Amino acid sequence: MIDESTIQKIFDAVNVVEVIQDFVSLKRAGTNYKGMCPFHDEKTPSFVVSPAKGIYKCFGCGAAGNSVKFVMDHEKFSYAESLRYLAKKYNIEIIEKEISGKEAEEKKERESLLIVNEFAKNYFISQMNESGEGKSIALPYFTERGFKISTIEKFELGWSPSKKDSLTKTAIEKGYKINFLQTVGLTITKEETNYSFDRFADRVIFPIHSLAGKIIGFGGRTLRADKNIAKYLNSPDSEIYNKSKILYGLFFAKNSIIKHDKCFMVEGYTDVISMHQSGIENVVASSGTSLTESQIKLVRKFTENLTIIYDGDFAGIKASLRGIDMVLSEGMNVKIVLLPEGEDPDSFSKKLKFDDYQKYIDENEQDFIKFKTKLLLEDAQNDPVKRAGVISDIVKSISVINDSILRAEYIKECSSIIKIREEDLYSEVANKISDKFGKQVGYQPDRKQAIKQNFAVKQSKSSYDPIEKEIIYYLLNFGTFSICINHETKEKQSVAEYITSQIIHEELEFTNNIYNIIFDDCAKLIAQNKKVDSAYFALHQDPEVSNVISDIISPEPELSRIWTKNGASPENIENKIETNVPLIIDKFKLKNIQFRIESLLQEIKNIEPGDNSGKLLELLNTLKPLDDYKKALTEHTEKSALL
Ligand code: CTP
Ligand code: MN
Repeated sequence: MIDESTIQKIFDAVNVVEVIQDFVSLKRAGTNYKGMCPFHDEKTPSFVVSPAKGIYKCFGCGAAGNSVKFVMDHEKFSYAESLRYLAKKYNIEIIEKEISGKEAEEKKERESLLIVNEFAKNYFISQMNESGEGKSIALPYFTERGFKISTIEKFELGWSPSKKDSLTKTAIEKGYKINFLQTVGLTITKEETNYSFDRFADRVIFPIHSLAGKIIGFGGRTLRADKNIAKYLNSPDSEIYNKSKILYGLFFAKNSIIKHDKCFMVEGYTDVISMHQSGIENVVASSGTSLTESQIKLVRKFTENLTIIYDGDFAGIKASLRGIDMVLSEGMNVKIVLLPEGEDPDSFSKKLKFDDYQKYIDENEQDFIKFKTKLLLEDAQNDPVKRAGVISDIVKSISVINDSILRAEYIKECSSIIKIREEDLYSEVANKISDKFGKQVGYQPDRKQAIKQNFAVKQSKSSYDPIEKEIIYYLLNFGTFSICINHETKEKQSVAEYITSQIIHEELEFTNNIYNIIFDDCAKLIAQNKKVDSAYFALHQDPEVSNVISDIISPEPELSRIWTKNGASPENIENKIETNVPLIIDKFKLKNIQFRIESLLQEIKNIEPGDNSGKLLELLNTLKPLDDYKKALTEHTEKSALL
């Protein structure tokens, strides 16, 4: 592991322009640099690099970050690999952090497993290209399926010979340890006879890549027609491979997913490869299993738009419907494309030209909830019990959607599909939501605790609240600006001091955890009498945090971009900030109060009719001052907004 002080040195040394210039040609534009974005196709440059802030941002596709993020995304390096790359570029000697014996062992084990897999992958490739069997059976199999040589090479497809122990033997001869071969599942050893043989013998091989391109597992397909032989075998779970947490093809798809802000999901290895070959590269496979939450989280790192492509198999579709509610609750937009009877993404992409395939998808993409409603309804026919089941199923799907406007839209459309009254569906959904809400929030006399709980509830949904974002925006872009906080005493404070003290004093929490991290860090800086400005960004080492920050801070000179747009001249920027910052903080307070009031009202609703425990009075007593505060604050906010 890289030592903290080395990381600091790297962050101190890097110059974002120098780093990016190795890959993109940049031209000076005022205090910034401009170039063609390497993350999406464009004809006019919208990729801006700000040396002062240490960041880049593309105004076309939204790609943004600091030097480390750039190297990670452009070179598909891991965080550590990017740091090592930058250290080399700037001649910084890397001091490895002392790691505990256990950590060191685990790390060594992981690395050994990856090395064994890398060896096996290369072995399988050379067997396909050089052995008699490979040349006469495996390679023709792929080419006859329509895979081009360049595709076969890109996906590193291979052949595991039919001789039962050929990989195991070769590996051991070359000095690879049998226990690593066993752990990654390439070798199986019979206990009774101690005979070791290859798991994948006599199969064509699909290596499975990690997000960084390392080989973490394999899929092997038999070429035999024998029904008793499993068509596919996969690596067993190990320290480096967890079937439910990986998506086949993501390594090859990630750039395209970002570029198109969309991800296609298919079932199998061959579907991914064929679609790639036909030009649709933003595609991954769940490898036959139903979608898991970890897989969705993986996709969500890159896009919120997921389109699932199904072949016409009805049973398969129905089985997978359940998993998709989870996708919805993650705040993803889910669409479905049904392929014609008898086609799968693999066969279909060979039949159609790229444009026609694309056109088919565009014309046949349907919204998931509507699709599900129609599908279930068809199945229920006129059976009233089944119909009730359909309704409750749809209610469940709709209720997990976070966005209330979207929810209302679905209620409207689904009620007309199911032919029940919109109001009825509305109240079903409302009940479902309040059930969940009541259960999760519960009665919490301790306010801080209650906020934490709310936070947990909201956090599970996608939440880039605009008010929160604006607060972080002021904190990072104008933290050092001084504003007058009391017009009588003329007392001044920096924007950062004002925001942090207000938020700490009112015990407000952001619903987005990254914002909490950023805020806590800023509060710490202030407590140490340090400045909060965008330099904080360039120093931030958590890639997820720097990702969010780079979206918020502007590489353009703020003055021209934001303020003149509103007709303000640069001279009264300070006035604008002086009114805007307190205003947004008030809005944040209001939102929090509103949330607390709603939780209390829910509590009151939940009290049993005959309850004399005094809980009602207690709740009302808590509610009253909150409500008064809300009124006062609302009035104040409205007045300030008029200024
Ligand atoms: N699968 C599996 N084990 C099986 C069958 C399937 O792990 N016994 C997984 C594989 O990841 C496979 C996916 O489920 O890619 C889809 O299965 P299927 O549609 O049967 O395979 P295809 O990908 O269509 O493969 P092919 O076209 O070569 O038959
Ligand atoms: Mn197939």
